[in-house]
Amino acid sequence: MLQRFSVALVLCCIFIQLLVIHPTESRPKKQKQAGRNQSLFNHYVFALTTKGGFCNTSRKCNRQSFRAAQWTIHGLWPSNSTSSGSVTSCAAREKFSVEKLSPIQERLNDDWPSFLGNNSKFWHHQWSKHGSCSVNHTLIKTVADYFNTTLDIYRKHNVSNFLINDNIVPRLEPYKTKDFFEAIRNDLDNKNVNVICRRAANISVVVEVRICLNETQLNVVDCPRKHSSCRKDLYYLPPLSPGGEPPAPADTAKVVATEN
Ligand SMILES: *[C@@H]1O[C@H](CO)[C@@H](O)[C@H](O)[C@H]1NC(C)=O
Ligand SMILES: *[C@@H]1O[C@H](CO)[C@@H](O)[C@H](O)[C@H]1NC(C)=O
Ligand SMILES: *[C@@H]1O[C@H](CO)[C@@H](O)[C@H](O)[C@H]1NC(C)=O
Ligand SMILES: *[C@@H]1O[C@H](CO)[C@@H](O)[C@H](O)[C@H]1NC(C)=O
Ligand SMILES: *[C@@H]1O[C@H](CO)[C@@H](O)[C@H](O)[C@H]1NC(C)=O
Ligand SMILES: *[C@@H]1O[C@H](CO)[C@@H](O)[C@H](O)[C@H]1NC(C)=O
Ligand SMILES: *[C@@H]1O[C@H](CO)[C@@H](O)[C@H](O)[C@H]1NC(C)=O
Ligand SMILES: *[C@@H]1O[C@H](CO)[C@@H](O)[C@H](O)[C@H]1NC(C)=O
Ligand SMILES: *[C@@H]1O[C@H](CO)[C@@H](O)[C@H](O)[C@H]1NC(C)=O
Repeated sequence: MLQRFSVALVLCCIFIQLLVIHPTESRPKKQKQAGRNQSLFNHYVFALTTKGGFCNTSRKCNRQSFRAAQWTIHGLWPSNSTSSGSVTSCAAREKFSVEKLSPIQERLNDDWPSFLGNNSKFWHHQWSKHGSCSVNHTLIKTVADYFNTTLDIYRKHNVSNFLINDNIVPRLEPYKTKDFFEAIRNDLDNKNVNVICRRAANISVVVEVRICLNETQLNVVDCPRKHSSCRKDLYYLPPLSPGGEPPAPADTAKVVATEN
């Protein structure tokens, strides 16, 4: 018992040393890069959520969101393919305030709604976590730019239409996951996209589609990972599926954000 403890202690010390040594070792490298406007990311992930899937797999779903389009914006996330996932929560030059978005707020309400109830809270979260890291882009210098640019991207890539073009519409029968993927890729120059499913009642329900964009050009590029959390068959559900009655409005009051 004591032996095991001391082994753990030694390992722990080595680990702490590595942590302490690492920053000083990597400092010269950082200084070398300081001359150019080095980004911490090399692509954006443009994430779209489908309300049918979200509300089917989440106990908390805002009744209002049923007015939303089939696919709406989740966020625009600066991401780095060589480290894990997205670059988040940077020291933003500009503070979020919903007033800065008033010229585009109507569109944001339609195209970027929260399924948990409070849109400005959702946007604030997206700005703090992701928008704050996007500011090195020439088109994205301010809070308004971040949301405005994302709306432009949304208008450009109409996933509902991509799917309709291949006769894939929301329904209660499953689709082959492969067909769902292909339908989207067909309209995106065959670039790799990511499709996110959640499991509900032992079925795979599509909740999100993620499209990767070039860091500077914002054109579609292959997503670095072949990620899919879907099984062979997936359900692309209409907003109100059987058993999918939205919770009573009172339920949304004490909602804690679980949106990324
Ligand atoms: C933005 O550019 C600055 C200056 O080059 C750099 O220090 C910072 O890490 C960059 N931020 C991101 C999120 O890429
Ligand atoms: C991505 O992350 C790696 C490891 O943290 C870092 O070295 C690199 O500078 C980052 N940026 C890009 C554009 O890959
Ligand atoms: C939404 O959240 C903000 C804080 O982020 C708060 O000021 C506002 O009152 C909330 N709105 C509603 C309708 O709950
Ligand atoms: C690069 O950084 C310089 C100095 O901070 C700034 O003036 C310039 O606008 C930046 N370029 C881009 C493309 O962000
Ligand atoms: C948003 O971008 C459009 C062009 O795409 C521009 O006309 C408009 O002024 C921008 N709005 C804001 C609030 O930045
Ligand atoms: C996407 O296409 C549908 C028609 O299939 C249309 O109703 C909707 O407004 C379009 N969305 C955007 C953002 O252009
Ligand atoms: C869940 O679905 C899988 C694949 O369709 C099936 O093999 C399995 O038996 C199911 N499990 C239950 C508990 O229904
Ligand atoms: C983005 O586009 C620029 C300019 O065309 C190119 O140099 C860069 O390699 C591209 N990045 C990715 C991740 O595709
Ligand atoms: C989700 O959709 C499936 C298929 O229509 C249905 O069987 C299930 O009851 C739904 N669950 C919820 C929580 O909406």
